[in-house]
Amino acid sequence: MIKKLVAGNWKMNGGLAANEALLAALRPVSGVDVALCVPHPYLAQLQRRPPGFELGAQDVSEFAAGAYTGEVSAAMLADFGCRYVIVGHSERRALFGEDDATVARKACAALSGGLVPIVCVGETLDEREAGEALAVITRQLAAVVEVLGKEGLSRSVLAYEPVWAIGSGRSATAEQAEEVHAAIRAWLVEQGVDATGVRILYGGSVKPDNAMELFAMPNVDGGLIGGASLVAGDFMAICRAAGV
Ligand code: 13P
Repeated sequence: MIKKLVAGNWKMNGGLAANEALLAALRPVSGVDVALCVPHPYLAQLQRRPPGFELGAQDVSEFAAGAYTGEVSAAMLADFGCRYVIVGHSERRALFGEDDATVARKACAALSGGLVPIVCVGETLDEREAGEALAVITRQLAAVVEVLGKEGLSRSVLAYEPVWAIGSGRSATAEQAEEVHAAIRAWLVEQGVDATGVRILYGGSVKPDNAMELFAMPNVDGGLIGGASLVAGDFMAICRAAGV
């Protein structure tokens, strides 16, 4: 069985004092890998964090180094002890114009820099209602396989985040999530990717009261947690639900 991963995505939230208070309330949870994906400036602060929490970032440059004002490279993230970096979050796709090819290049830069990309995919409500969810997700994934290759993809983490479930309080049901996760794994196998160890996280309104049910699904290998990762008690409860 794949060891689950719960990653908190703080998004553009936090501050030195608030982060300190949050970190002070976090305790290690056994049986699950836990990561905190924080805004770039706070990577330095998170050098001191409770044991048992790995570090992640929320975006990475597709370029390795040079004249790219405002960008942060994979090597810089690795320098600060990052293990993970989120790429292709729907907020970056929708608000910052990142297309499938850009996301794929960022995932590649992450792997080349020694990081594990957490590659986000997911459909909008319109796409789901049009019956296009899987077509959208496999299009997003195909772009990544094309650049990373099968081997690169097998070393990545995937996150299924239906856009309609993000920050809406309306999570996918456990059955809806499982249906997509199982389809993603089957698609990976069809492409010749060794998918046995690939963790497929679910993200979108995961809370303490629905985490257990979601994580009980055979193809849900953990979660990518937004709002609830900012509330220590809720985040701990979600991590514990993955660790049982
Ligand atoms: P919420 O948990 O706030 O819905 O956010 C999910 C998400 O976007 C994680 O990356």
